[in-house]
Amino acid sequence: MKAVLRVLVIGATGQLGSEVCKVLQETHEVIPATRQEADITNLPQILSLAKLVIPDIIINAAAYTDVDGCESNREKAFLVNAVGARNVAIAAREVGAKLVHISTDYVFDGGKDEPYLEYDPPNPVNIYGWSKLVGEQMVREQNPRSFILRVAWLYSAHGRNFVKTMLKLAREQEEIRVVKDQRGTPTFVGDVAHQIKLLIETHCYGLYHCTSQGSCTRFQFAVEIFKCVGYKAESNPDGSVHLIPNTQGLRPITLRPVTSAEFPTPAKRPANSVLENFMLRVQGLDIMPHWKESLAAQIQRIKEAIEQ
Ligand SMILES: NC(=O)c1ccc[n+]([C@@H]2O[C@H](COP(=O)([O-])OP(=O)(O)OC[C@H]3O[C@@H](n4cnc5c(N)ncnc54)[C@H](OP(=O)(O)O)[C@@H]3O)[C@@H](O)[C@H]2O)c1
Repeated sequence: MKAVLRVLVIGATGQLGSEVCKVLQETHEVIPATRQEADITNLPQILSLAKLVIPDIIINAAAYTDVDGCESNREKAFLVNAVGARNVAIAAREVGAKLVHISTDYVFDGGKDEPYLEYDPPNPVNIYGWSKLVGEQMVREQNPRSFILRVAWLYSAHGRNFVKTMLKLAREQEEIRVVKDQRGTPTFVGDVAHQIKLLIETHCYGLYHCTSQGSCTRFQFAVEIFKCVGYKAESNPDGSVHLIPNTQGLRPITLRPVTSAEFPTPAKRPANSVLENFMLRVQGLDIMPHWKESLAAQIQRIKEAIEQ
């Protein structure tokens, strides 16, 4: 039988943090910490919590994740995503705990035609990406017993994400514009949580890409979301997709593909941020499923969360 680990989860109320708590609770002892209990920008607070709990593992799921907000709040972005990450790494080191740190696909500029590998040179195109990249570097400097996981396009029934945004817009609009020139991999937080669970039971420290298998554009992701909730998709000659409901209570929608230039946001996004889970795979550790499989399995739960 495997040992029960004491796991301190920081950022436990977030999308990923809450799911990590749920999944790890099945086999380990989980101590969840909210921002009030563990503000990662406050080193003394993080250190004294770690010394009180004496965990085997600390999982840092906390971050300033408002990608557009980071553009106008550069100092907050670096304080939370870089200095905060460093603080958690110091606390883990001080109490001899392993560390799981979460990073992002947005460390890359999107110029590569292929999926990115762990050791492709990063070159962020926005402040969020820079702050997360510096966070990775600071974590590595402070704590060699770290698993750094780059995740992407997260969704769940909890919190704000693309799946929930699409389903909400469908209730308000007959036509939805979605960008067609950003490619990535939708990833369900529960799958990341299971991957974390597997990793923390090893000593395979290092940098990992950790997303679902496969990839799509934001537009293709939107089409798949609507197919999963019971729409039939018919492509139009102009590239738009007409969505016809198969079930009662839904109304027809048109999905219109637009370019990022037609849909300006404060933060630039990489055109390609598909990650290959190369380092997980070569060590026989990759358990991430295909993104379509997870979306189909989760959509009902997400739909119910919106209807509440
Ligand atoms: N969401 C994505 O698509 C995506 C993509 C790539 C990478 N990631 C990374 O994945 C990780 C998890 O993201 P997520 O989507 O679960 O984020 P989320 O839902 O926005 O949750 C972030 C959590 O961090 C907490 N937090 C913020 N500032 C804090 C501070 N100073 N001290 C302690 N806690 C603080 C928040 O608490 P409050 O709610 O109380 O503020 C919240 O619980 C992050 O590292 C993020 O950068 C996410």
